Amino acid sequence: MISTSVEFRREAIALALHRCRIGTLKLFDGIDWDTFCRQAHPEFSPAGWHLGHIAYTEEMWLLQRCAGISPVFPKYRQLFAADSLPKKERVYLPTFAEVCCYLETVRKNVLDYLIKAPIEEQERLWQFIIQHESQHCEIIAFILQMQRKEKTIGEKEAGINILPTANNLHSSDSSMIEISRGKFEMGNDGIDALDNERSRHPHYLETYCIDTYPVTCNQYRKFIDIGGYQNPQYWSKAGWKWLQNNPVNQPLYWSNNPIFDNHPVSGVSWYEAEAYCQFIGKRLPTEAEWEKAASWSSETHTKNIYPWGEEELKIYHCNHDNSVGKTTPVDTYPEGKNAYGCWDMLGNVWEWTASWFHAYEGFESYPYQGYSQTYFDGEHRVLKGGSWATRPWALRSSFRNWYHPGVRQIIAGFRCAK
Ligand code: AVJ
Ligand code: FE
Repeated sequence: MISTSVEFRREAIALALHRCRIGTLKLFDGIDWDTFCRQAHPEFSPAGWHLGHIAYTEEMWLLQRCAGISPVFPKYRQLFAADSLPKKERVYLPTFAEVCCYLETVRKNVLDYLIKAPIEEQERLWQFIIQHESQHCEIIAFILQMQRKEKTIGEKEAGINILPTANNLHSSDSSMIEISRGKFEMGNDGIDALDNERSRHPHYLETYCIDTYPVTCNQYRKFIDIGGYQNPQYWSKAGWKWLQNNPVNQPLYWSNNPIFDNHPVSGVSWYEAEAYCQFIGKRLPTEAEWEKAASWSSETHTKNIYPWGEEELKIYHCNHDNSVGKTTPVDTYPEGKNAYGCWDMLGNVWEWTASWFHAYEGFESYPYQGYSQTYFDGEHRVLKGGSWATRPWALRSSFRNWYHPGVRQIIAGFRCAK
């Protein structure tokens, strides 16, 4: 009995590793050398570096630490370790073919090891490695989006006025859903849970309201048009200071094309989200408020992995895994609705929350301090829900992402609460 289930886990891990890798490599389809090794932004490493870092991390944890196999390409340590070179020096990369050879060599040894590895003890680490690759995929996806954006500047807005206004039923729907006071279960104790999701714990919330949809471009345009970016009254002190240092007047991935009216805003910093909320007379939800809406069933008093319940994540639930490659209208996925009637909580765009990234009670670092603990510093805000680029292994209501509130290169929007 026990050995059968262990063999089953082994197979499941092998399959996940394989599926994850196919999606990773697909991101690099037809990529040119410049796109592979150039930094799209000083805060982010080149796409090609992330690919090598995926192989390096897999090798370090599964081959070096677990299997006791020394590195096949020791020279890659300095280049691909996260704590080694400054980002601007990560541009001197081997070719795409060479990095693929690195990935394949590591993977072959990993699969050889998987057959005999003590999975009962190690499953958490294997799950971590799959999610680590998943997260770097997302970074690669938005880096590539930034580079595409640079290339199309100029061609971009041509012909915009001749386009018809889309039939955007929900593009100005600012309805909210009331979520009654009470306890819910926050966090995740599953084998897939990352260190920062643990432990699962009860959490009490007063009654609050949360938007039915993420804030759409059509809604956000009113903030732009009214001069929101020029008026300090909407901005917190820190937000206004950020804006003076980063003079912008629209989201990073913005288009005025009415075709996007019903799409969520994408490419805003936490400060821009905060300012919009102030303008509209609402506020950002806390992480707990967001997670309760996305995972709690007040009828059955149970916590679900997904807003729609426990049914395995499918392509029709939400916009994820690069299947569309960009945002979709916020009312595209009725199958993804939660028990309360909120749309689009997973996928499409990450949603900024009001909460700082902090440790839950009883937190223990895994597999290393620098994964989460370093960021419990009161300088990072939590994002929830995942985006169109989030891989399935990092998509669940309990998943916590975090960034500096000034970052806007990530695929992030928000919904409001009250
Ligand atoms: C959770 C996306 C903020 O990019 O630093 C990747 C994920 N950690 N390798 C990051 C991560 C280590 C992390 N984020
Ligand atoms: Fe990493």
